[in-house]
Amino acid sequence: MEKKYILALDQGTTSSRAILFDKKGEIIELAQEEFTQYYPKPGWVEHDANEIWSSQVKMAEKIVSSTNINAADIAAMGITNQRETTIIWDRNTGEPIYNAIVWQDRRTAEICDFYKDSGYSPRVQNKTGLLIDAYFSATKIKWILDHVKGARERAQKGELCFGTVDSWLVWKFTEGKVHATDVTNASRTMLYNIHTLEWDSELLDLFDVPYHILPEVKSCSEHFGDTTTDEISTEIPITGIAGDQQAALFGQLCTKEGMAKNTYGTGCFLVMNTGETPKTSKNDLLTTIAWSCNGKINYALEGSIFVGGAAIQWLRDGLGILRSAAESEEVALTVSDNGGVYFVPALTGLGAPHWDQFARGTLIGITRGTNRGHIVRAALEGINYQVNDVLKAIEADTGLITRELRVDGGAVANNVLMQYQADISRCKVVRPKTLETTALGAAYFAGLAVGFWKSLNELHEQWQEDRVFQAKLFASKALKNVGEWKKAVDRSKSWVE
Ligand code: G3P
Repeated sequence: MEKKYILALDQGTTSSRAILFDKKGEIIELAQEEFTQYYPKPGWVEHDANEIWSSQVKMAEKIVSSTNINAADIAAMGITNQRETTIIWDRNTGEPIYNAIVWQDRRTAEICDFYKDSGYSPRVQNKTGLLIDAYFSATKIKWILDHVKGARERAQKGELCFGTVDSWLVWKFTEGKVHATDVTNASRTMLYNIHTLEWDSELLDLFDVPYHILPEVKSCSEHFGDTTTDEISTEIPITGIAGDQQAALFGQLCTKEGMAKNTYGTGCFLVMNTGETPKTSKNDLLTTIAWSCNGKINYALEGSIFVGGAAIQWLRDGLGILRSAAESEEVALTVSDNGGVYFVPALTGLGAPHWDQFARGTLIGITRGTNRGHIVRAALEGINYQVNDVLKAIEADTGLITRELRVDGGAVANNVLMQYQADISRCKVVRPKTLETTALGAAYFAGLAVGFWKSLNELHEQWQEDRVFQAKLFASKALKNVGEWKKAVDRSKSWVE
């Protein structure tokens, strides 16, 4: 009998989600649970790996045992995950030897400075596409091996396993039978050579990481193993894995060179498919693997923005001028434009393409006529300008002009935000019907591997737009505003140095 569903797990930074999709790519069931964040010291962020597992398996089981569906109708499972977050566990007992060190954690910033000052940046960028930074897994692994008693010795003896969250979940779902990851997650470790598609021995030496702790690297769309663990009542093949931003790119079906998506979450992640050969950035963007699927590898350029929707949360919680984030649209519409006010939301420094950790939030252009509407509008526009800066950097790197930006994430419900993106970026902004594009991407990878969907064409045929935003603002006005934003950004830089 033909199976009806694909189960996608989206293990994110703040919550574990499970979503069931049908053949049309529509959501049938969704379960979500938040889990604990630990901040043991300033700049440190940890998760309990066992809680990641227990919350994730609970959500999966909630769907599998739902009375609305027959579990036997689930064809396969796909996993997508917060990337770079680092877990090391005991190969025999399956117990983590330390909490998961989360991608946001800055404890290894000094170690990274050492590597940068020693001149390793070009070498690392050439091999991995990444800029040396505490963001990636390599120095987090090194830190755990250097700080947990006996860990380095045990790692050398092959007694420990390292994994990003996908690996950890696969290990748990298969009861320790499979220690594997996919190329997209591997490409965020700063240990994986994105050209040779292998763990790189020179980088392993550089970052003191023993080869035996690493998972096997597979494509995004193939059989990883079957769920045999007791917590889940049915055996389901795991046939898709991708890091969350790459999964969203695939879920948005940005399958051709030059297609790009932006996720408007707490921060923003803009990723452009750059085709089958990696493009090195001259503008401090990351080159990364978009996916490997059906024997083909695609690369991408990525820019991360630290504060996106978080700027609106700050207006709500810090400044208290909004009752809810959703209210920002209504309040922004009380004014016809920003009234000359610019808000650079560099609340935790600036990410791509500015990379200034000493920049700070800047609100400028205020006059006696400025009101709440102008400030809210300036905050929304501040998100748009940052996205536009990354888009222009990607265009400069690739020589490609973006005709269309596909969007997802919580904030895309805000029509003012979407319209202004089209106005200043001078491209179509396309909001899809299914906004769960991250989970959808993982479902697509899993479904393609088992023939649930036969081809990319089938996916393109069913993918639907919700609304398209086209530029309405005069080009000259957009240009003038972008120029003023640039001046505001310059003022925000190097503030706390
Ligand atoms: O690189 C970090 C990213 O994968 C985290 O995404 O959606 O869990 O915040 P998210």
